[in-house]
Amino acid sequence: MDPVLGGGGADGSVVTFFDVEGTFPQNEGLGTMAEFLQILVDRHEINAGDILHFAAAVSAANCPGSPQIEFWMGRPPASGPSPPNLIPNPTDSVETILNRFAAINIGTVEVVALLAAHSIARMYVTDRTVPGLPLDTTPEIFDSQFYIEVLLNGTTFAGNRSTPGEVEAATPGIFRLESDLNFAHSPLTSCLWQQFALQPGQVQEIFGEGMFDLSLVGHTKSSLTDCNDVIPLPLLMTTFPHFPPGEGFSDLQLSCSTSSFPTLTTAPGPVPTFTPAGCEFPGVPSCWFISLTTMSGTGGGNAVEATLSDGLVVALVTDTQTATAESLVSPASRTAAPITKSTAV
Ligand code: HEM
Repeated sequence: MDPVLGGGGADGSVVTFFDVEGTFPQNEGLGTMAEFLQILVDRHEINAGDILHFAAAVSAANCPGSPQIEFWMGRPPASGPSPPNLIPNPTDSVETILNRFAAINIGTVEVVALLAAHSIARMYVTDRTVPGLPLDTTPEIFDSQFYIEVLLNGTTFAGNRSTPGEVEAATPGIFRLESDLNFAHSPLTSCLWQQFALQPGQVQEIFGEGMFDLSLVGHTKSSLTDCNDVIPLPLLMTTFPHFPPGEGFSDLQLSCSTSSFPTLTTAPGPVPTFTPAGCEFPGVPSCWFISLTTMSGTGGGNAVEATLSDGLVVALVTDTQTATAESLVSPASRTAAPITKSTAV
């Protein structure tokens, strides 16, 4: 990522050179993704970095509450694999992680907002005994529950044992990363963390900007073409900040001394249970799991189709000479997600 450290930025090298980058521990779970995207790269002569970011932006839009992430294309092919150790580990300190992002001009506010990706994430390889466990109780919604729930007193490991990088979570079956817990309590980030816990709309906005900035690392806007029109509007956000069933204000562990935290409502119902999926690649449908296929039918020779959970189909029709993209089906046929406010009582 950082040219100084020898990486090439957001160039899709993890797909093109997966034989090398797939051996890095941080990339262990990316094999199926890399293999699949390489098929589309070969078939459509599309750049690996472009299709990777297209897939990320469309997948995010499939999760209610996500921002509409900008998509620009026209990246040159990756010239070589990234050196190892440029991707943070869950055992790294907050300082180490922030420094790594600072080297590519991503600041603290954006880093903390980017961690909202863990609101729609599942763990597959960190502890292989319990693959498929989510990192918050609403893994199908891009919301601020992840920030709230990491603030709750941890009492239980998700797996049979403690794995490096895992710490105890508040709800059984939720996998909590050591780095996420450290971000929630570090003097560098704890106040921001609490702010984001209560402001999903703010997280949505800054996450979208951060994802776009990540996609530009190693590139300039002027060298790329604006293809935002092909990215669908996200689905409506359906939740408000709350404590999960069985948890309340007294379970909070707060480290920010300059702001208080309000009492939120506790979601009704029994304590949720999450069980491992039993396989390493999405055996559990996730909101970000879209199907990407080659366009069928006449005139679709150079198009990739993305089918979303509500049936919306987006077609990325590419012209590799001029790096343009267009959608055959209007991606605007959804309702924009509203910005939600905290339901503090
Ligand atoms: C800042 C330091 C970060 C660390 C240490 C970290 C670490 C991890 C770890 C250990 C997992 C579980 C992987 C597995 O066991 O399969 C994970 C999952 C995930 N992370 Fe992060 N992460 C970080 C930041 C980010 C950022 C900035 C993004 C994106 C903007 C992101 C997106 C994801 C996603 C989408 C998953 C779920 C993968 C899946 O469902 O297969 N993470 N992260």
